[in-house]
Amino acid sequence: EFHLHPHDIGLSSNGFFGRFDNRQVQRGFQVYKEVCAACHSLKYVAFRDLAEIGYSEAEVKAIANQWVIEQPTINPETGEAATRKNVPSDRFPSPFPNEIAARAANNNALPPDLSLMTKARHDGVNYVHALLTGYRPQPAALVREFPGAKTPAGLHYNPYFANLNIAMPPPLTSNGQVAYADGTNATIDQMARDVSAFLTWTAEPKLGARHAAGIATLVFLLIFTFLCWGAYQNVWRDVK
Ligand code: HEM
Repeated sequence: EFHLHPHDIGLSSNGFFGRFDNRQVQRGFQVYKEVCAACHSLKYVAFRDLAEIGYSEAEVKAIANQWVIEQPTINPETGEAATRKNVPSDRFPSPFPNEIAARAANNNALPPDLSLMTKARHDGVNYVHALLTGYRPQPAALVREFPGAKTPAGLHYNPYFANLNIAMPPPLTSNGQVAYADGTNATIDQMARDVSAFLTWTAEPKLGARHAAGIATLVFLLIFTFLCWGAYQNVWRDVK
């Protein structure tokens, strides 16, 4: 009873006829860019993939060029570690050069890559929203019953996280934390929904095409059924 189950946020991409709402996915990208990217990479998503959610080629170039976290590389003269600006074919980089540095900055926890997070966790889309909005004070009854579960210093209580205490500090803390380009009111709940929609897209960019193919297949099978029925009637017409 201390571990809560996420509730359904009802994204437009849900269900048989589901389609991404590109405006929402773009808002979610803005949240990723301005908040989550400070700790999390998207190693399976390239800047140029943003064209699929409605950004123009020029916008993609500008987004890549202005991305604050640069790509790791080496100085060709000295061989020393260096960084360079992103180009559209680059994947969204991690801000940390390696796992040791990442853990050192995060209380020994590793911020996971978010590309496939909505698939990796049970009910992942709703889970991400629930996790982001789920931070709260730890209930006294829980500590009374399970003293060992008391949130250690440096961790944060979240009843949606599997072991209840998570190393990620609450990333969405105030309404208006992101100034949405489309004017949508950026409540914490809205930002959490939008970034969940974005991470649904990163995990399954071809969802729309898959749903469209499924519908076309069923329409074909329906017509084919009537054709078969007609052919059957025709073939056996003279047989009593
Ligand atoms: C873990 C999402 C921002 C640091 C996670 C997890 C998700 C997530 C889904 C995995 C939880 C699990 O394992 O089930 C997000 C989103 C963010 C965001 C959507 C932006 C809105 C940040 C920021 C930081 C951070 C800004 C660093 C300050 C971490 C760390 C973990 C983590 C350290 C590992 C936690 C642990 O294993 O205890 N995040 N995150 N995240 N995140 Fe974030």
